Amino acid sequence: MRLFEALAALGHEQVVLFSDPAVGYRAVIAIHSTRLGPGVGGTRLRPYARDEDALADALGLSRAMTLKSALAGLPFGGGKAVLLQPAGSFDRAALFEAHGRAIETLGGRFVTGEDVGVSPDDLELTRRTTRYVAGLASGAGNPAPYTARGVLRAMQAAAERVWGSPDLAGRRVALQGCGAVGSSLATALRAAGAHLVVADVDAQRLAAVADATQAEVASPDEILHVECDILAPCALGGVLSARQLGQLRCKVVCGAANNQLATPAVAAALAERGVLYVPDFAANAGGVISGAQDLLGWTPAEVTRAIDGIGATVGQVLELSEREGCTTAEAAERLALLRVGAAERRS
Ligand code: NAI
Repeated sequence: MRLFEALAALGHEQVVLFSDPAVGYRAVIAIHSTRLGPGVGGTRLRPYARDEDALADALGLSRAMTLKSALAGLPFGGGKAVLLQPAGSFDRAALFEAHGRAIETLGGRFVTGEDVGVSPDDLELTRRTTRYVAGLASGAGNPAPYTARGVLRAMQAAAERVWGSPDLAGRRVALQGCGAVGSSLATALRAAGAHLVVADVDAQRLAAVADATQAEVASPDEILHVECDILAPCALGGVLSARQLGQLRCKVVCGAANNQLATPAVAAALAERGVLYVPDFAANAGGVISGAQDLLGWTPAEVTRAIDGIGATVGQVLELSEREGCTTAEAAERLALLRVGAAERRS
């Protein structure tokens, strides 16, 4: 990777590597932008085959956080922390305390919360050594149900565009990933009258969601290619690649997973195939919006109102894409950057 070229191309302000060998702590904290406010973004913990993969994840995810917060109208910038999971067993408390110490050195330029592999309990451990944490069990708590609510609103906006009605009753939704967001989204979709097809690599989670929502089950290999109205990627990123687009059999892609497109070019390829892609950072802003309870003192009602506003934002994105003849991803990015630029001009 040509490091500084990558940073310049993506527009990052600061990327820091942290290491505390005594507790196996290795982390990348990427601060993409602090123009609208502190760089807010979750902490992800997972094994990475190569250090470069962790860095690439932190760079892509932190930039998406800038766009996500700007598009959601929040006074936050974008950041992300990626922790390389130590091999074998490790002392979780020591790891997350080390993480807190690292975050504290950034003096509030980065504020973190949950992401894949990190629980509210882990954030409580992080809070022991830094002030800059949101989404604690004692505050707004687990962001996943908020994220799921926002994804549902995004799906309804897409349904309105494609089928002329936001009603999801009778729609067939293929859901990849029955984790924190996926399980909550499945419940909401079932309540809205949708028929679900679900998949997860974790058999227990899969069975729990399938039983609770009377869903059909597909294998992890099949789920992206089942015939459906809406495909909802709610596992990891990079699932939509040019290679497998030919096998997609959905009209809409709308899910929670961050960075769903393996490359930016996939957005145009989806549009050419007549698939409406709701940009992930527009659909999945509910979690970061819920952080406004801890960071800005918002009431639960204010949070709900802002999350429900994701529907209108997605509507604007889809309209702009149609009007300008650009992809939905470009339209969402343009709207988000307009908001960053407008705030810059005001200051
Ligand atoms: P999670 O870790 O609770 O759930 C992910 C699920 O996907 C797990 O059950 C896992 O077993 C499953 N999975 C992994 N690989 C799979 C595969 N190949 N096929 C099928 N299932 C697979 O994570 P969470 O919190 O539900 O997040 C899901 C996605 O949404 C992630 O990409 C995350 O970055 C994104 N996101 C989550 C937010 C939140 O509030 N938790 C906010 C915004 C985005």
